[in-house]
Amino acid sequence: MTSNVVKERGTRPLELPDGPWASITPRERRPSGIYITLAICLVLILGTYGFSIRFFSLLPGSGWLFSSPAWDSNSTAAHKLTEIFEMARFLLHAAVGLVLPIMTRALPIMRQANLDYATSEAGNPFVNGWYADPDTEFYNGRYWVFPTSSYAYAQQTYLDAFSSLDLINWEKHENILTIKDVKWATKAVWAPAPISRGGKYYLYFGANDIQEGEPERGLIGGIGVAVADKPEGPYIDAIGKPLIGEYHNGAQPIDQDVFIDDDGQAYIFYGGHSHCNIAKLNEDMISIGQFDDGTSFKEITPEGYVEGTQMIKRNGKYYLMWSEGGWTGPNYSVSYAMSDSIMGPFTKLAKILEQDSAVAKGSGHNGVIHVPDTDIWYIIYHRRPLSETDGNHRVLAYDRMYFNEDGTIAPIKMLVKDNFADGQAVGWKQYGVSWSVIDTRLTSSGEAAAMLDTNFGDLVYDATVSVPDSGVDAGLLFRTANVSNDLAQLNGYYAKVSGSGSVTLEKIINGTSSSLSEETISIAARTEHHVRVTAVGSEINVFVDDLRTPKITVIDNSFSTGADGVRSSAAGARFGFVSVAKP
Ligand SMILES: *[C@@H]1O[C@H](CO)[C@@H](O)[C@H](O)[C@H]1NC(C)=O
Ligand SMILES: *[C@@H]1O[C@H](CO)[C@@H](O)[C@H](O)[C@H]1NC(C)=O
Ligand SMILES: *[C@@H]1O[C@H](CO)[C@@H](O)[C@H](O)[C@H]1NC(C)=O
Ligand SMILES: *[C@@H]1O[C@H](CO)[C@@H](O)[C@H](O)[C@H]1NC(C)=O
Repeated sequence: MTSNVVKERGTRPLELPDGPWASITPRERRPSGIYITLAICLVLILGTYGFSIRFFSLLPGSGWLFSSPAWDSNSTAAHKLTEIFEMARFLLHAAVGLVLPIMTRALPIMRQANLDYATSEAGNPFVNGWYADPDTEFYNGRYWVFPTSSYAYAQQTYLDAFSSLDLINWEKHENILTIKDVKWATKAVWAPAPISRGGKYYLYFGANDIQEGEPERGLIGGIGVAVADKPEGPYIDAIGKPLIGEYHNGAQPIDQDVFIDDDGQAYIFYGGHSHCNIAKLNEDMISIGQFDDGTSFKEITPEGYVEGTQMIKRNGKYYLMWSEGGWTGPNYSVSYAMSDSIMGPFTKLAKILEQDSAVAKGSGHNGVIHVPDTDIWYIIYHRRPLSETDGNHRVLAYDRMYFNEDGTIAPIKMLVKDNFADGQAVGWKQYGVSWSVIDTRLTSSGEAAAMLDTNFGDLVYDATVSVPDSGVDAGLLFRTANVSNDLAQLNGYYAKVSGSGSVTLEKIINGTSSSLSEETISIAARTEHHVRVTAVGSEINVFVDDLRTPKITVIDNSFSTGADGVRSSAAGARFGFVSVAKP
């Protein structure tokens, strides 16, 4: 059994064992590390090259060598120059070979460059705001996410994008496409699909929510294509009209995905109203091609298909993914099919992503993130927080997507974690006072609670907890309801540690706490303690640091399910590495 160690500055280390906790190993995050590495490499390269040239050019009689643009390739001077370059190359390789491994050890960003996470470990949603229908690309070393702005149709007149080096810290790029640059689009700008070819960046999007029969009546809308010189836009309409503006095979022209196969042929998969088409895109990426039989649109609708196409290829197999159910409801979900041919047939294999009553509902309309040169895949999707009812209240999330030995996709688990490595507490509801993230710990500024929008019954709830001094207690709330600023109506359980040296499990009814059990233990101020609560049915265990023997075991059935969060009695309590999982 391996163990991981968390250390708060100047305090003793905290042992974190395997289990749900293991994959929330603390990571030093230094995105600037990669730039420092690159900068040093560049200096090395230029330095070595420059030094050689400079050194040899000082040799008597060699000056002409470096000023004459044309030289006799058979002369001794030419051989000499070749030697110089060989020498420079050798020095360079030696330097890089020696220095790079040392630097790699010193800069953790290099070690975790493969982005091997169990989920969005800095929290889902991973960005603020109402967004939906995400699709992704990897452009110039950055991961890009292009979502729909999730508002009423009339307000859907623009697109924002997000980019990240590490899938943890996300930069927002506003208004990468707006309808002022698409003269036929007026509303309902949906589900952007990005791709790059020939140095240009293309964004395919739906607009105007065109209905069957409307194009015949002169109404305009459908799938458009916009082009930009940079991933962040501005994206400008490429053809002045929709690329696909009519219904073919009953498919509403929306919800496209664009895919370039290994042979260079580009395809567009798309369709709403429960029909899915495939078409070829010509090399120009802005016109529809033809199949060998002269047709342009072939129906490939799998069983259960509603909308939201996504195509990926892995080990020579084509995976068509799509969404089922109504997007405003809880049952929205993702299914997939596999085929040896890009043309299908696509026979539904399984539903792989759907709501989880403990985590979120309406999970669907996915994109896929593939970490280049690895077999690491993430499904990126939108979902509705449990307490939200408005259809447009959709947020962006991603979770790990694992493939089985036979190439099938394992069902996705929506995990709940937050290590605050992004310096933010996105998705947390704050009560009482405001919270802040300081040095990747959620930190209270007074008596307060902060809650996740979850509804776990049976659970394993882990976090690090530290209190600033002996007068403060802090801990984990679970199976709670009616959380408010004054906590006056709070119902649920509270497992807390006290700076004066105890761990207590409390039952709180209508804001009034009563102790179910209390134990004296050693709690050092400003030291992180690993607190774990396991609750299965009516049995509740509370562990502190030692995860083999619970400090408290209680049988109580007052509360069976509810939201999870953290609470502190005063300023300066700190929480990290939050994970709430099913046992
Ligand atoms: C270099 O030498 C080769 C044979 O040794 C000869 O064929 C060629 O013409 C020479 N090139 C020049 C530029 O003198
Ligand atoms: C969701 O699915 C369940 C089970 O199939 C069904 O009973 C329910 O009516 C569905 N809800 C909606 C809003 O479609
Ligand atoms: C929330 O508070 C209200 C009013 O006090 C109460 O009726 C309700 O049962 C509470 N809900 C839960 C889940 O405790
Ligand atoms: C909580 O208070 C409400 C009134 O505010 C009351 O109706 C309810 O019965 C109380 N719940 C419990 C469990 O005491």
